[in-house]
Amino acid sequence: MKTDLKERLLTFMDQNLTPERKKHTEGVRKMAGELARKYGADVEKADIAAISHDFYRYLDGEELNSFIREHGLPEKYLNNPSLAHSKVAAIRLRSDFGIDDEDILNAVSYHTTGRPGMSVLEKVIYLADAIEEGRSYPGVDEIREAAREGLDQGVMRSLINTREHVLSKGRFLDEDTLKTIEFLQGDKMTNREYALLAAETLSKKKAQDMVLIDISEKSGFADYFLIATGNSVRMINSLADEVEDAMENAELPVKSVEGKNVSEWILLDFGDLVVNLFTPEMREKYNIERIWADCPIEQIEA
Ligand SMILES: [Fe+2]
Ligand SMILES: [Fe+2]
Repeated sequence: MKTDLKERLLTFMDQNLTPERKKHTEGVRKMAGELARKYGADVEKADIAAISHDFYRYLDGEELNSFIREHGLPEKYLNNPSLAHSKVAAIRLRSDFGIDDEDILNAVSYHTTGRPGMSVLEKVIYLADAIEEGRSYPGVDEIREAAREGLDQGVMRSLINTREHVLSKGRFLDEDTLKTIEFLQGDKMTNREYALLAAETLSKKKAQDMVLIDISEKSGFADYFLIATGNSVRMINSLADEVEDAMENAELPVKSVEGKNVSEWILLDFGDLVVNLFTPEMREKYNIERIWADCPIEQIEA
């Protein structure tokens, strides 16, 4: 049954999409498969949504307009094929192909804008469309990098990129995009979650002897100190770069950095989280765990 549907979809794609659109669609399929596996979406549903997401991109403006009028869709989609094609696709996939899985239909419907409360599958399709290997536009590498850190981080970076791009061209920005940004920002991480994200990033890059000190009771300037060792000056500098990027993708840009390139102790201040990176010698010498010895300290396992 599923296989039959997929064959019909692939035949439609073959007969109606331009070679460039097909190439893009194949890229989206591949990326959607990877993201679905990584972030736990249904791989088969992701493939069906990926194949069909741009099915009606080939319709010309007038055809899209009359479809929108016929189906009573909001007027904002008139003369706006880059948004309209996704709404048209969601309707036609149901009527012409008998797809009734709401998650697939929503993933197609919101692949250009996102929406508040979007599902994992919706995020996977939204992001795959933005970063498939054939895509090249300003900011795409940062979105790819963010997508490696986390699904929400990738979606967020892409939404913000879209917002900046659309506004800089003085074009119309769909309110679904704005609302999705607000929604994802509303899901703010706690300081502890930020600290653990920083620790995870450093651990992946082979930082050693990581400890997380909860200084919230003893200090007015921060909640957490994260301390880690790298075995050379070069290494602590690259750890600093990695953690800066990861936190920026999580919407917590660094406030100040001390010691970079000049010292064996780099301090990154993220506000409520302060990350200290040491060479082994400096770690011994300063022994900041001792200063905060009466605070709760956790060893972070690699
Ligand atoms: Fe599209
Ligand atoms: Fe697309």
